[in-house]
Amino acid sequence: MDIRDLLHVLAGPKYDDGNGYLKRGSSDLANRLLPIREEELRGLLRSGTLKVVVYGLGLVGSAITAAWLRFGAHVVGVDKNPSVVERANKGLGPMGEPLISEAYLKGLEEGRFEATTEGDGESREAKIKFVAVPVSWSSRGLEISMLMSVIRTIASNISEDDVVIVKPTIPIGTSRKVVVPLLSSSGLLPDDDFLYIYSPERISAGRAVSDIEEHYPAIVSGVGPKSLDFARSLYGLIAKAGVICMKSLEAAEAEKIYEGIYRDVNIALANELAIIADGLGLDFEEIRTAANSQPYSHIHKPGLGVGGACIPIYPWFLVKNALEVGVIPELVLTARRMNDNMPGYFASMAERYMGGLMGKRVAVLGLAFRGDVADKRLSPTYDLVAELLKRGASVTVHDPYFDDDELLSRISVRVTRSLTEALRGADLIIVATDHSEYTSLSDRILISASGGRPLVLDSRRILNPAMFKDLKLVQPASGRKVK
Ligand SMILES: NC(=O)c1ccc[n+]([C@@H]2O[C@H](COP(=O)([O-])OP(=O)(O)OC[C@H]3O[C@@H](n4cnc5c(N)ncnc54)[C@H](O)[C@@H]3O)[C@@H](O)[C@H]2O)c1
Repeated sequence: MDIRDLLHVLAGPKYDDGNGYLKRGSSDLANRLLPIREEELRGLLRSGTLKVVVYGLGLVGSAITAAWLRFGAHVVGVDKNPSVVERANKGLGPMGEPLISEAYLKGLEEGRFEATTEGDGESREAKIKFVAVPVSWSSRGLEISMLMSVIRTIASNISEDDVVIVKPTIPIGTSRKVVVPLLSSSGLLPDDDFLYIYSPERISAGRAVSDIEEHYPAIVSGVGPKSLDFARSLYGLIAKAGVICMKSLEAAEAEKIYEGIYRDVNIALANELAIIADGLGLDFEEIRTAANSQPYSHIHKPGLGVGGACIPIYPWFLVKNALEVGVIPELVLTARRMNDNMPGYFASMAERYMGGLMGKRVAVLGLAFRGDVADKRLSPTYDLVAELLKRGASVTVHDPYFDDDELLSRISVRVTRSLTEALRGADLIIVATDHSEYTSLSDRILISASGGRPLVLDSRRILNPAMFKDLKLVQPASGRKVK
């Protein structure tokens, strides 16, 4: 027997070839994982032979967890936040996502799900490792420490045939330049000993699980052909709308950023066109609908700005990438500025209609960044509140999903679920979020709750003007004159 073969037998699943490289082993599972047929993978996942671990049980991680639980897999959820873990172990997912809570509960009942704060232990056992912690941007630049912390944990426990699937949106090149080298510091070779997949998530709050399972194709990429093959088979099991295999990790990273920037730029365009329509006394929605009847026109809706953990952040990732190759992304930057300026634009409009805001009481309706979702991250409402305070107003915020907010309480702004409380004594009411419960508001309700005759500024144009005979209703770019 050749000395290498002997070493192989003695060392079990892996051995050093003398050049410092650890070579791929021959464990049963190793041989079965690659290449693998979907049917076989289905069986391995449903029997629990292949377990899934999901790091980060926020909106994305909990939706991924739910999708795999619904598929029948055995899933461990890891989150560093003990209250998230405690809730998950009681069958409670994020607010407004009933499918996630249902899947948690069923998984718990069937002994296929548990949540834990211990990343180390679970990381070792589960071969399919999803990473769904946030990557963000702040005034200090890229915030990637949470991703790196999870990747370090995985790297210190990684074993052959593990599959690492990174989900957060990341600047182009992050997988190859940062994540894969850290995983390889274990001594295992990417695409040979372990598989690395980058697959951006494409969900929206309020319909996260069905987005994964039905609404859009999954985007996948691999560090090499084996990883890509596995990604195709794995996602083929749950993504009914299909799987798009990208040619490179970088292409997949770029896809998600480009998709987000398209929306940011489009919303900025809609805001600019709406402001012009307002100046001209035209009904922007009428124009938008007519323009969009042409197949090449997809003008989005204007509004108070852009919020959420995604769209306002991704342009900065691209700015970083663009500057690295000597390009100044003028349009992307202008769009960002335009959308960021919208809360100030509406505060100035309110000031103009009110003849000044000093000492005025303002009720802002909606803290969530989008209608009917319990997500307030980077909501433009925060900026609107700051702009109103700057002009001397006092502000109360209403939202059906929230009754407190750490940031706003720091500046003594009350957040309440009670509309009556928010409206009491208001001189001005600003509709900031298109929650459906606001659409039925009328002058009668607002006069009675405020005890006065407040001006109503509807930044989302969701109120029915026919219900406002006795109050001044401002709906910018509606083509209607304010009485
Ligand atoms: N929210 C969306 O709608 C959405 C959509 C598409 C893509 N994304 C991408 O997904 C990323 C995650 O988004 P999200 O909304 O789920 O974030 P989130 O903030 O809701 O949740 C992240 C979770 O990760 C946990 N966490 C942080 N560090 C951890 C660690 N070291 N170990 C274990 N858990 C840890 C946090 O406690 C939190 O519960 C975003 O940064 C974005 O790039 C988000």
